[in-house]
Amino acid sequence: GPRLRDGTYRLWNTDPGRAFVPGDDPLYVTMPVQLVVADAATHLVFHDTSWDGTVTLREGEEGAGSGHDRAGASELRMDGGPLRCWVIVGTPARVLHAWVSLTGAPALPPAWALGHHHARWGFGSEREVRRIVAGYQERGLPLDAVHLDIDHYDEHQVFTVDQERFPKLPALAEELRRDGVRLVSIVDPAVKTESGNAVYDSGMSEDAFVRDASGRLVRGVVWPGEAVFPDFTQARVREWWGGLYQERLAQGFAGFWHDMNEPTSFTAFGESTLPRSARHDLDGRGGDHREAHNVYALCMARAAYEALRELAPQERPFLFSRSGWAGMQSYGGTWSGDVATGWPGLRASLSLVMGLGLCGVPYSGPDVGGFDGSPSPELYLRWFQLGAFLPLFRTHASLRAGRREPWEFGADVLEHARVALVERRRLLPYFMTLAHLARRTGAPYVRPLWWGAPEDRALRDCEDAFLLGDCLLVAPVLYPGSDRRHQETV
Ligand code: NOJ
Repeated sequence: GPRLRDGTYRLWNTDPGRAFVPGDDPLYVTMPVQLVVADAATHLVFHDTSWDGTVTLREGEEGAGSGHDRAGASELRMDGGPLRCWVIVGTPARVLHAWVSLTGAPALPPAWALGHHHARWGFGSEREVRRIVAGYQERGLPLDAVHLDIDHYDEHQVFTVDQERFPKLPALAEELRRDGVRLVSIVDPAVKTESGNAVYDSGMSEDAFVRDASGRLVRGVVWPGEAVFPDFTQARVREWWGGLYQERLAQGFAGFWHDMNEPTSFTAFGESTLPRSARHDLDGRGGDHREAHNVYALCMARAAYEALRELAPQERPFLFSRSGWAGMQSYGGTWSGDVATGWPGLRASLSLVMGLGLCGVPYSGPDVGGFDGSPSPELYLRWFQLGAFLPLFRTHASLRAGRREPWEFGADVLEHARVALVERRRLLPYFMTLAHLARRTGAPYVRPLWWGAPEDRALRDCEDAFLLGDCLLVAPVLYPGSDRRHQETV
């Protein structure tokens, strides 16, 4: 979130391996970026090295002052370097502008990506996708995109389709597109180690996969079983990987959802990623996973984005990625990952989006309803209402989670969800304007209340409301049993 409490935070992209709750650290995205808002001025420090590290924040002397004027301390430890530090000073708006000038202007999403998305792990068949879309249409609820998770792959293998359960995917995509609904595909980096698998075979002939110091392939285990990992830190591997999106475009997909790209490899014990000794090209310089790990997903996003610009030059690429690093905004956005279903998860959703925006990544959003379990109707609706005002507005849930369609929670919830959906659609030109402003100036769509007045301490204390651009203040309900907000908390 935007206001980090005292403690130690790790800079190492990590899949927590289960639904996360506030306070879990580290998570999928590392941002070695510190924005300090104090009475004197605002500044941003970028600790420019991709190595593993920690930041420890400590408040000054106990009891001295109200908490605002204590001299705090921040200690940075990095496992490697060199470490270059950039410092940017100015108003929040100027700081963010300079930040994106340094690391890249945020990609402009296509207009449809600013609408409502419905995802789920486990739609399982074309029939179920049609049933969900019809559910929206019959009730007159706006829907702009449906996301297909790994269950549409043939045995969980990336860049394949299960022909039995999705026999006519291009036709389905075409039919949905006529109704204004785009299809988005999950893309995982791990490639099943199996000759006969076209991606594996072509990757082998390109020598695209990560190897160890003695030249052996580094193998891991992900959804398809034993798998190897493309070395996205090498330009020619990015080019090869990018070419694979042609298959997705031919299936009719209009957008891409990068997952498991910390990268994650399941292990019974130890770290669930590649060994630190794994070798990487690092754009010709050569190095190992200690340096490449945090930028692995960033390089994967670059591969996809640059290829999509070539493969479909008439469309703005739509891409969002679970893992990433400073600068990922040039290629697309991100999302919460597996946020736990519960009121704390709802509050974490807002902190994440606000915090990411201040790190230069303006386009993100949570799994509306939470990733696991079954939200109560009240929690679901509050999440839906918050999501409607966040850049990525997407319902998503795990294979074993309860339903997430707005009509599954009773007539009352449906009517309130309809209001949220209609309001979102009405605000679409406003969201598009915010996307352009983010690209030109680095200003996030979702801003803390102190954005224009960082010297106002009362505003600095408010963490449960936000500004959506210059014209709207959103004060969501984030606690059960309430139906209004007290003025003093706004
Ligand atoms: C983990 C992702 O965070 C989640 O959104 C997705 O549904 C599963 N992987 C399955 O692909």
